[in-house]
Amino acid sequence: MDSIVVRGGAELNGVIPIAGAKNACLTLMPATLLSDEPLTLTNAPRLSDIRTMTLLLQSLGAEVTSLQDGKVLAMSSHDLTNLTADYDIVRKMRASFLVLGPLLARAGRAVVSLPGGCAIGARPVDLHLKAMEALGATLDLRDGYVHAEAKGGLRGAVVEFPIVSVGATENALMAATLARGTTEIRNAAREPEIVDLAQCLRKMGARIEGEGSSTITIEGVDRLSGATHPVVTDRIELGTYMLAPAICGGEVEFLGGRIALVGAFCEKLDAAGVSIRETERGLVVARKNGRVNAVDVVTEPFPGFPTDLQAQMMALLCTAQGVSVLEERIFENRFMHAPELVRMGARIEVHGGHATVTGVERLRGARVMATDLRASVSLILAALAAEGETVVSRVYHLDRGYERVEEKLGACGASIERVAG
Ligand code: EPZ
Repeated sequence: MDSIVVRGGAELNGVIPIAGAKNACLTLMPATLLSDEPLTLTNAPRLSDIRTMTLLLQSLGAEVTSLQDGKVLAMSSHDLTNLTADYDIVRKMRASFLVLGPLLARAGRAVVSLPGGCAIGARPVDLHLKAMEALGATLDLRDGYVHAEAKGGLRGAVVEFPIVSVGATENALMAATLARGTTEIRNAAREPEIVDLAQCLRKMGARIEGEGSSTITIEGVDRLSGATHPVVTDRIELGTYMLAPAICGGEVEFLGGRIALVGAFCEKLDAAGVSIRETERGLVVARKNGRVNAVDVVTEPFPGFPTDLQAQMMALLCTAQGVSVLEERIFENRFMHAPELVRMGARIEVHGGHATVTGVERLRGARVMATDLRASVSLILAALAAEGETVVSRVYHLDRGYERVEEKLGACGASIERVAG
């Protein structure tokens, strides 16, 4: 297994292009199942999760061709030859569950493996299932699979979520585009990835209003057509790399970045003492003074502070002046990076959903590993500022969500390399 070796201490200066969003692409791809005409995505990120979704769609009978070195995905689901999403793919990537709504809507039937728990929490799919039932599907849970059927097709309905779920909103939204009548999704997620999905579906002929607010209304249509759609900028990749000059010093410009994608995160960076300037090309980030200040962070659904930036923000706060408290409200087990950061000299105490971080002047390099994507990249950020060498293992987590991490940071002066293992 590959590792990433970082020698900390260098200031970072330069330009980092931000890719299309992994989590938007992973929901736009299953939208191809809704139509027998081609759907082409541009600005796709080149990540292992995208390859996993490609395999899943191909197993269902879709054609997926990766063009321009993976930046363009040309998809066509003329014939769906299989309606079963197999355990072996779904267990690798929970986003696989997003094929349920499109398959049910187009074919009236789907069999999708239940994903099981994962490193950051139990992550049930009950809200996805309730949404499908509200739209008229009958469900049977057998042998670890959801067997779903909608005899005579799905029907528009009110789908009211008790808590905000990105994935359940996406599944309901896609399913409702081909349901008979009107669907109203209440307490919908408002993430930019939902807005991007709705915009793409609208290009395919769907009738959708209200995306980006907590009520989305969908008027079902008989069929959807093809479309070409650019994947929205990855706000989590953006936020992650914005922390690099905040941690190391220097000034970096992030091409394609916009404050609207990372508003709550920018407010916390500003409070910590990091300046962010919007330009025509993106965002320019630099530390205002020497060490940053402690800030408290609470993760929330968009437009709040994203859970997917909590681990990376903790890496910054490890060397802040003062004591910061991070509260994780989305996932129950998302502090696995804390003990690894402690191995690098950080002072962190975790109690349930809270982590208290007392800033130290300097972290020290160590051998570390992480069990999920954002935790892994938080260790790389910490390593950039640490004294000496850090070896981050289990790099396959990183490759799920960050393309060419060592090239992007290396181009700004970081000493970082991948070692094949
Ligand atoms: C999406 O996951 C993202 N994944 C996650 O990104 C992200 O952390 C999460 O949204 C929150 O922003 C993709 O988009 C592919 P949720 P999702 O449903 O849709 C509970 C990353 O690092 N819940 O919004 O699975 C759930 O357990 C990943 O890129 C239920 O109880 O998240 C959680 O506590 C990790 N029942 C909360 O809701 C359900 O049926 C929010 O989860 C569904 C969710």
